Amino acid sequence: MTTILEPDASQASVLQAMLHGSSAFGDMEALRSHLRDTPNEFAVVIGPSVAAEFAAEFAQWARVQRPDLGVILLRETVDSSALALALRSGMREVVQARDLAGVTTAVQRARSVASAIGQTLMDEAQAAADAAKAQVAAEAAAAQAAADAPVGQLHTVFSTKGGVGKSLVATNVAVAMADAGHRVCLVDLDVNSGDVAIMLQLNPTRTINDLVGFSGVIDDGAIDSVLTKYSDNLSIVAAPIRLDSLEQATAEDVGRLLDALKLRFEAVVVDTSGVFDDHALTALDRSDTIVLVGTLDIPALKGLKLAINTLELLNFTKESWKFVLNRADGRVGLSVDEYESTLGLEANATLVSANEVLNAVNRGEPLVRAFASHQNSKTLARFAATLAQSSSTSDTSSDHGGRKAGRLRRRKG
Ligand SMILES: Nc1ncnc2c1ncn2[C@@H]1O[C@H](COP(=O)(O)OP(=O)(O)O)[C@@H](O)[C@H]1O
Ligand SMILES: [Mg+2]
Repeated sequence: MTTILEPDASQASVLQAMLHGSSAFGDMEALRSHLRDTPNEFAVVIGPSVAAEFAAEFAQWARVQRPDLGVILLRETVDSSALALALRSGMREVVQARDLAGVTTAVQRARSVASAIGQTLMDEAQAAADAAKAQVAAEAAAAQAAADAPVGQLHTVFSTKGGVGKSLVATNVAVAMADAGHRVCLVDLDVNSGDVAIMLQLNPTRTINDLVGFSGVIDDGAIDSVLTKYSDNLSIVAAPIRLDSLEQATAEDVGRLLDALKLRFEAVVVDTSGVFDDHALTALDRSDTIVLVGTLDIPALKGLKLAINTLELLNFTKESWKFVLNRADGRVGLSVDEYESTLGLEANATLVSANEVLNAVNRGEPLVRAFASHQNSKTLARFAATLAQSSSTSDTSSDHGGRKAGRLRRRKG
């Protein structure tokens, strides 16, 4: 429909006669109130007796409030000042007041512009609705994918004594798993004397302490920057190279790192320092398997007994424990049976003392690669396969095997 603004009654009736079905108003207030009530109005014809400044003011209002509305200005003479006024205030057309054909075509043009604008707005609204729907669907799919994503298993190699073979076991288990086709990350949490990088002859440029720079936001970028690649399937997070490093990763950083690594790797193997420090507890807390390592001697036995008592006190359930007995050579006056019954644990893997172990360490090669046919290598590879097996058969939705609900945590400080 068309609306006419013309205070002069006779002019108004002439225009109304020209534009069938139009409504005419004599003042601006009445016109605006009519437009508010008539949202599908598409053209306003401003009669020749409306002062230029009122016409401009209305056009400016309409440009903002009703951009679909075509404002057509009628003047007795269409001169440059009328055209400039129309241009400045955003009117569609200026037509000579007595040009009957000119006025009706301008109104027709306003009608088609309004319907095109209406269609575009509808298309945009539809597109926005489609986009919103697509986004909701994508978010739901992403959430589902995250929920369905397999969570990697975390195996922490632990003892309360140094020199028993933790790093040997951790490194070789990780390499064997990776060489068997699993995506593995080996994390060296022995922050004071980590050997993993040396044992694999790596020169890491970034270490676990570089997590500090990410201020607790351990995202994919943060993880990428602390990983050092060993092989296609194996990456490591190295222990700090310098002990006097000013910035040291906190237990919270380590916890977030391990949680994130479990989402990116099938298996995360953690080497520890030999004490119940915050880093070790953080790893133990998230462990699916706790691999205890001991050598066949009385000090190691004593240390392991202490470790077991403490783990029990901290409510780590025995079902998640594995035991690797190292240097079990039988010529040391202590039998494997005695050892096992004192601990209340049966060895899941037994390694012998061998020159090849030291030889491999000195060459910076993992035993399972340097001496693949050595009995220790075969034992370690078999042991790694059982850990990987437990990874693929475990129910990822359940709680960690290593943790009882409501486990009591003792923390220092
Ligand atoms: N079965 C073994 N035969 C010979 N040497 C071994 C054996 N197990 C460990 N070692 C040596 O003992 C040292 C300590 O081993 P490591 O794995 O670093 O222990 P941890 O990490 O518990 O301190 C290393 O030099 C290692 O080569
Ligand atoms: Mg070590």
